[in-house]
Amino acid sequence: MKRLPHPIPYQGSKRQLAEAILAFAPAQRRRLFEPFSGSAAVTIAAARGNLAQHFVVSDALAPLAQVWGLIVNRPGALVAGYRDLWLSQAEDPAAAYNRIREGFNRDHDPVKLLYLLARCVKASVRFNRYGEFNQSPDHRRLGMRPTVLHREVAGAHALLAGRTSVLACDFRSIIDQATIRDLVYLDPPYQGTTNGRDQRYLSGLPLGELLAGLSELNVRRVPFLLSYDGSCGERRYGDELPPELGLRRVLLNAGRSTQATLNGRSETTVESLYLSPSLQDVLATDGRAIPPPTHLPSLFGYAALSP
Ligand SMILES: C[S@@+](CC[C@H](N)C(=O)[O-])C[C@H]1O[C@@H](n2cnc3c(N)ncnc32)[C@H](O)[C@@H]1O
Repeated sequence: MKRLPHPIPYQGSKRQLAEAILAFAPAQRRRLFEPFSGSAAVTIAAARGNLAQHFVVSDALAPLAQVWGLIVNRPGALVAGYRDLWLSQAEDPAAAYNRIREGFNRDHDPVKLLYLLARCVKASVRFNRYGEFNQSPDHRRLGMRPTVLHREVAGAHALLAGRTSVLACDFRSIIDQATIRDLVYLDPPYQGTTNGRDQRYLSGLPLGELLAGLSELNVRRVPFLLSYDGSCGERRYGDELPPELGLRRVLLNAGRSTQATLNGRSETTVESLYLSPSLQDVLATDGRAIPPPTHLPSLFGYAALSP
Protein backbone atom coordinates (compact mmCIF):
# COMPACT_ATOMS: atom_id res chain seq x y z
CA MET A 1 0.00 0.00 0.00
CA LYS A 2 1.23 3.50 -0.81
CA ARG A 3 2.85 5.11 2.20
CA LEU A 4 1.05 7.85 4.06
CA PRO A 5 2.49 11.38 4.11
CA HIS A 6 4.05 12.19 7.46
CA PRO A 7 5.13 15.83 7.62
CA ILE A 8 5.69 16.14 11.39
CA PRO A 9 8.27 13.85 13.02
CA TYR A 10 6.74 13.02 16.40
CA GLN A 11 7.55 10.42 19.01
CA GLY A 12 4.51 8.27 19.66
CA SER A 13 3.16 8.77 16.16
CA LYS A 14 0.55 6.20 15.23
CA ARG A 15 1.78 6.12 11.65
CA GLN A 16 2.57 2.37 11.68
CA LEU A 17 -0.70 1.48 13.40
CA ALA A 18 -3.09 3.89 11.70
CA GLU A 19 -4.50 1.35 9.24
CA ALA A 20 -4.91 -1.29 11.98
CA ILE A 21 -6.73 1.26 14.17
CA LEU A 22 -9.02 2.35 11.36
CA ALA A 23 -9.98 -1.26 10.65
CA PHE A 24 -12.42 -0.61 13.53
CA ALA A 25 -13.79 2.65 12.14
CA PRO A 26 -17.29 2.70 10.67
CA ALA A 27 -17.63 3.99 7.12
CA GLN A 28 -19.16 7.34 6.21
CA ARG A 29 -18.82 9.36 9.36
CA ARG A 30 -19.80 13.01 9.22
CA ARG A 31 -16.63 14.12 11.06
CA LEU A 32 -13.54 12.51 12.50
CA PHE A 33 -12.19 14.27 15.60
CA GLU A 34 -8.58 13.70 16.65
CA PRO A 35 -8.25 15.75 19.86
CA PHE A 36 -4.73 14.56 20.80
CA SER A 37 -3.54 14.90 17.27
CA GLY A 38 0.27 15.15 17.54
CA SER A 39 1.35 14.11 14.05
CA ALA A 40 -2.30 13.27 13.23
CA ALA A 41 -1.37 9.95 11.66
CA VAL A 42 -4.87 8.52 12.07
CA THR A 43 -6.51 11.58 10.52
CA ILE A 44 -4.21 11.36 7.50
CA ALA A 45 -4.97 7.66 7.03
CA ALA A 46 -8.70 8.29 7.48
CA ALA A 47 -8.61 11.13 4.95
CA ARG A 48 -6.96 8.89 2.42
CA GLY A 49 -9.67 6.28 3.00
CA ASN A 50 -12.40 8.98 2.85
CA LEU A 51 -13.78 7.64 6.12
CA ALA A 52 -15.34 11.01 7.02
CA GLN A 53 -16.58 14.11 5.23
CA HIS A 54 -14.73 16.48 7.53
CA PHE A 55 -11.73 16.21 9.84
CA VAL A 56 -11.08 18.06 13.10
CA VAL A 57 -7.43 18.12 14.18
CA SER A 58 -6.64 19.59 17.59
CA ASP A 59 -3.89 19.51 20.19
CA ALA A 60 -3.25 21.40 23.41
CA LEU A 61 0.26 22.28 22.21
CA ALA A 62 -0.68 25.45 20.30
CA PRO A 63 2.42 25.76 18.05
CA LEU A 64 1.93 22.15 16.97
CA ALA A 65 -1.70 22.81 16.08
CA GLN A 66 -0.45 25.87 14.19
CA VAL A 67 1.89 23.65 12.15
CA TRP A 68 -1.24 21.74 11.11
CA GLY A 69 -2.97 25.02 10.30
CA LEU A 70 -0.11 25.89 7.95
CA ILE A 71 -0.11 22.44 6.34
CA VAL A 72 -3.82 22.76 5.62
CA ASN A 73 -3.99 26.44 4.64
CA ARG A 74 -0.52 27.81 3.81
CA PRO A 75 1.76 24.89 2.96
CA GLY A 76 4.12 27.04 0.86
CA ALA A 77 4.83 29.37 3.79
CA LEU A 78 5.62 26.42 6.06
CA VAL A 79 7.98 24.78 3.57
CA ALA A 80 9.77 28.07 2.80
CA GLY A 81 10.15 28.94 6.50
CA TYR A 82 11.51 25.47 7.28
CA ARG A 83 13.94 25.63 4.37
CA ASP A 84 15.33 28.95 5.66
CA LEU A 85 15.87 27.54 9.15
CA TRP A 86 17.35 24.30 7.82
CA LEU A 87 19.80 26.14 5.56
CA SER A 88 20.77 28.53 8.36
CA GLN A 89 22.33 25.62 10.29
CA ALA A 90 24.90 24.78 7.59
CA GLU A 91 27.93 26.35 9.26
CA ASP A 92 27.33 25.33 12.83
CA PRO A 93 24.33 22.98 13.34
CA ALA A 94 24.69 22.81 17.15
CA ALA A 95 24.75 26.59 17.57
CA ALA A 96 21.86 26.96 15.11
CA TYR A 97 19.76 24.47 17.08
CA ASN A 98 20.35 26.37 20.32
CA ARG A 99 19.58 29.69 18.64
CA ILE A 100 16.35 28.41 17.09
CA ARG A 101 15.32 26.73 20.36
CA GLU A 102 15.84 30.00 22.24
CA GLY A 103 13.86 31.80 19.58
CA PHE A 104 11.02 29.28 19.86
CA ASN A 105 10.88 29.68 23.63
CA ARG A 106 10.44 33.43 23.10
CA ASP A 107 7.97 33.53 20.20
CA HIS A 108 6.41 29.99 19.95
CA ASP A 109 6.75 30.14 16.17
CA PRO A 110 5.31 26.90 14.70
CA VAL A 111 7.95 26.74 11.95
CA LYS A 112 10.67 26.73 14.61
CA LEU A 113 8.87 23.92 16.42
CA LEU A 114 8.82 21.86 13.23
CA TYR A 115 12.58 22.41 12.81
CA LEU A 116 13.19 21.43 16.45
CA LEU A 117 11.10 18.26 16.07
CA ALA A 118 13.02 17.34 12.94
CA ARG A 119 16.37 17.78 14.71
CA CYS A 120 15.85 16.82 18.33
CA VAL A 121 16.48 13.51 20.08
CA LYS A 122 13.85 10.91 19.09
CA ALA A 123 11.60 13.64 17.64
CA SER A 124 10.26 13.95 21.14
CA VAL A 125 9.04 17.14 22.75
CA ARG A 126 10.24 17.89 26.28
CA PHE A 127 9.44 20.96 28.38
CA ASN A 128 10.93 22.21 31.62
CA ARG A 129 8.95 23.54 34.57
CA TYR A 130 8.75 26.98 32.95
CA GLY A 131 7.13 25.52 29.86
CA GLU A 132 10.30 25.95 27.82
CA PHE A 133 11.23 23.43 25.16
CA ASN A 134 14.44 21.86 26.45
CA GLN A 135 15.01 18.77 24.33
CA SER A 136 18.59 18.30 23.06
CA PRO A 137 19.57 18.05 19.41
CA ASP A 138 20.40 14.72 17.87
CA HIS A 139 23.94 15.47 16.75
CA ARG A 140 23.98 12.57 14.28
CA ARG A 141 21.55 14.16 11.86
CA LEU A 142 20.50 17.50 10.47
CA GLY A 143 16.76 16.84 10.30
CA MET A 144 14.49 16.16 7.37
CA ARG A 145 15.77 17.74 4.16
CA PRO A 146 13.58 20.59 2.86
CA THR A 147 12.82 18.64 -0.33
CA VAL A 148 11.53 15.73 1.74
CA LEU A 149 9.49 18.05 3.95
CA HIS A 150 8.03 19.63 0.81
CA ARG A 151 6.89 16.22 -0.45
CA GLU A 152 5.37 15.23 2.92
CA VAL A 153 3.60 18.57 3.40
CA ALA A 154 2.23 18.50 -0.14
CA GLY A 155 0.93 14.95 0.41
CA ALA A 156 -0.82 15.86 3.67
CA HIS A 157 -2.18 19.12 2.23
CA ALA A 158 -3.67 17.28 -0.74
CA LEU A 159 -5.54 14.93 1.62
CA LEU A 160 -6.76 17.54 4.14
CA ALA A 161 -7.25 20.89 2.39
CA GLY A 162 -10.84 22.08 2.13
CA ARG A 163 -12.20 19.55 4.60
CA THR A 164 -10.19 20.02 7.80
CA SER A 165 -10.54 22.31 10.82
CA VAL A 166 -7.56 22.85 13.09
CA LEU A 167 -7.77 24.01 16.70
CA ALA A 168 -5.38 24.50 19.59
CA CYS A 169 -7.29 23.50 22.70
CA ASP A 170 -7.77 21.05 25.52
CA PHE A 171 -9.45 17.82 24.39
CA ARG A 172 -12.53 18.41 26.55
CA SER A 173 -13.59 21.55 24.70
CA ILE A 174 -13.41 19.87 21.31
CA ILE A 175 -15.03 16.52 22.08
CA ASP A 176 -18.00 18.48 23.45
CA GLN A 177 -18.92 19.13 19.82
CA ALA A 178 -18.94 15.49 18.68
CA THR A 179 -22.25 13.73 18.01
CA ILE A 180 -23.49 10.22 17.33
CA ARG A 181 -22.81 10.69 13.61
CA ASP A 182 -19.11 11.42 14.16
CA LEU A 183 -16.12 9.33 15.26
CA VAL A 184 -13.57 10.44 17.85
CA TYR A 185 -10.09 8.94 17.91
CA LEU A 186 -8.23 9.63 21.14
CA ASP A 187 -4.52 9.02 21.73
CA PRO A 188 -3.84 10.77 25.05
CA PRO A 189 -0.42 10.84 26.67
CA TYR A 190 0.40 7.57 28.36
CA GLN A 191 0.33 7.62 32.10
CA GLY A 192 3.72 8.43 33.50
CA THR A 193 4.69 10.73 30.63
CA THR A 194 3.12 13.92 31.91
CA ASN A 195 4.48 14.18 35.42
CA GLY A 196 7.88 15.02 36.76
CA ARG A 197 10.30 17.81 36.07
CA ASP A 198 10.82 17.29 32.34
CA GLN A 199 7.41 16.86 30.89
CA ARG A 200 6.90 14.93 27.72
CA TYR A 201 3.96 17.09 26.84
CA LEU A 202 3.40 20.67 27.82
CA SER A 203 -0.12 19.99 28.91
CA GLY A 204 -0.49 17.20 31.41
CA LEU A 205 -3.55 15.03 31.55
CA PRO A 206 -4.82 13.73 34.89
CA LEU A 207 -6.50 10.34 34.52
CA GLY A 208 -9.72 11.69 36.07
CA GLU A 209 -10.00 14.30 33.29
CA LEU A 210 -9.69 11.63 30.63
CA LEU A 211 -12.22 9.34 32.30
CA ALA A 212 -14.71 12.20 32.69
CA GLY A 213 -14.36 13.01 28.99
CA LEU A 214 -14.88 9.38 27.99
CA SER A 215 -17.98 9.13 30.21
CA GLU A 216 -19.47 12.21 28.59
CA LEU A 217 -18.90 10.72 25.15
CA ASN A 218 -20.67 7.57 26.29
CA VAL A 219 -23.61 9.51 27.71
CA ARG A 220 -24.04 11.26 24.33
CA ARG A 221 -23.49 7.91 22.54
CA VAL A 222 -20.60 9.32 20.52
CA PRO A 223 -18.61 6.44 18.98
CA PHE A 224 -14.94 6.57 19.86
CA LEU A 225 -11.69 4.65 19.54
CA LEU A 226 -9.10 5.07 22.27
CA SER A 227 -5.43 4.13 22.21
CA TYR A 228 -4.41 4.02 25.78
CA ASP A 229 -1.96 1.62 27.24
CA GLY A 230 0.62 -0.64 25.83
CA SER A 231 3.10 -3.27 26.77
CA CYS A 232 6.53 -4.24 25.65
CA GLY A 233 7.98 -7.58 26.63
CA GLU A 234 6.96 -8.03 30.24
CA ARG A 235 6.54 -4.34 30.98
CA ARG A 236 3.12 -2.86 30.91
CA TYR A 237 2.20 0.82 30.80
CA GLY A 238 -0.93 2.35 32.17
CA ASP A 239 -3.66 1.44 34.62
CA GLU A 240 -6.75 -0.43 33.63
CA LEU A 241 -9.74 1.59 32.60
CA PRO A 242 -12.92 1.22 34.65
CA PRO A 243 -15.30 -1.53 33.42
CA GLU A 244 -18.26 0.91 33.75
CA LEU A 245 -17.07 2.58 30.56
CA GLY A 246 -18.08 -0.57 28.68
CA LEU A 247 -15.02 -0.50 26.45
CA ARG A 248 -13.97 -3.45 24.34
CA ARG A 249 -10.21 -3.87 24.27
CA VAL A 250 -8.39 -5.27 21.26
CA LEU A 251 -4.63 -5.72 21.09
CA LEU A 252 -2.69 -4.42 18.13
CA ASN A 253 0.77 -5.68 17.34
CA ALA A 254 2.97 -2.60 17.05
CA GLY A 255 6.00 -4.57 15.91
CA ARG A 256 9.41 -5.01 17.43
CA SER A 257 10.49 -2.54 20.08
CA THR A 258 13.45 -0.55 18.77
CA GLN A 259 14.51 0.36 22.31
CA ALA A 260 14.58 -3.30 23.36
CA THR A 261 16.47 -4.22 20.18
CA LEU A 262 19.05 -1.55 20.99
CA ASN A 263 19.39 -3.12 24.44
CA GLY A 264 19.95 -6.55 22.90
CA ARG A 265 16.47 -7.94 23.64
CA SER A 266 13.88 -9.08 21.14
CA GLU A 267 10.50 -7.82 22.33
CA THR A 268 7.25 -7.07 20.67
CA THR A 269 5.27 -4.00 21.52
CA VAL A 270 1.55 -4.54 21.90
CA GLU A 271 -0.85 -1.62 22.03
CA SER A 272 -4.39 -1.63 23.30
CA LEU A 273 -7.20 -0.10 21.33
CA TYR A 274 -10.53 0.41 23.06
CA LEU A 275 -13.87 0.47 21.25
CA SER A 276 -16.63 2.49 22.89
CA PRO A 277 -20.09 0.95 23.47
CA SER A 278 -21.67 3.17 20.84
CA LEU A 279 -18.99 2.23 18.32
CA GLN A 280 -19.64 -1.46 19.03
CA ASP A 281 -23.34 -0.84 18.30
CA VAL A 282 -22.61 0.97 15.03
CA LEU A 283 -20.30 -1.82 13.87
CA ALA A 284 -22.91 -4.44 14.80
CA THR A 285 -25.60 -2.53 12.87
CA ASP A 286 -23.29 -2.40 9.85
CA GLY A 287 -22.87 -6.19 10.10
CA ARG A 288 -19.21 -5.81 10.99
CA ALA A 289 -17.47 -8.31 13.21
CA ILE A 290 -16.57 -7.13 16.68
CA PRO A 291 -13.54 -8.84 18.09
CA PRO A 292 -13.97 -10.86 21.27
CA PRO A 293 -12.76 -9.22 24.48
CA THR A 294 -9.03 -9.51 24.98
CA HIS A 295 -7.52 -10.22 28.33
CA LEU A 296 -3.90 -9.50 28.95
CA PRO A 297 -1.89 -12.62 29.68
CA SER A 298 -1.21 -13.10 33.38
CA LEU A 299 2.45 -12.82 32.43
CA PHE A 300 2.02 -9.10 32.82
CA GLY A 301 1.01 -9.52 36.43
CA TYR A 302 -2.19 -7.54 35.98
CA ALA A 303 -5.72 -8.74 36.43
CA ALA A 304 -7.59 -9.34 33.20
CA LEU A 305 -9.83 -6.53 32.03
CA SER A 306 -13.54 -6.90 32.09
CA PRO A 307 -15.02 -6.84 28.61
C1 LIG B 1 0.54 10.40 22.35
S1 LIG B 1 0.55 12.00 21.60
C2 LIG B 1 -0.47 11.76 20.19
C3 LIG B 1 0.28 11.15 19.03
C4 LIG B 1 -0.55 11.04 17.77
N1 LIG B 1 -1.54 9.99 17.84
C5 LIG B 1 0.30 10.85 16.53
O1 LIG B 1 -0.02 10.00 15.69
O2 LIG B 1 1.31 11.54 16.42
C6 LIG B 1 -0.47 12.94 22.68
C7 LIG B 1 -0.74 14.38 22.27
O3 LIG B 1 -1.68 14.92 23.17
C8 LIG B 1 -1.38 16.28 23.40
N2 LIG B 1 -2.02 16.63 24.69
C9 LIG B 1 -1.57 16.39 25.96
N3 LIG B 1 -2.49 16.78 26.86
C10 LIG B 1 -3.55 17.26 26.16
C11 LIG B 1 -4.83 17.77 26.52
N4 LIG B 1 -5.19 17.88 27.80
N5 LIG B 1 -5.69 18.14 25.52
C12 LIG B 1 -5.32 18.04 24.22
N6 LIG B 1 -4.12 17.56 23.81
C13 LIG B 1 -3.25 17.17 24.77
C14 LIG B 1 0.13 16.37 23.37
O4 LIG B 1 0.56 17.68 23.03
C15 LIG B 1 0.47 15.32 22.30
O5 LIG B 1 0.63 15.92 21.05
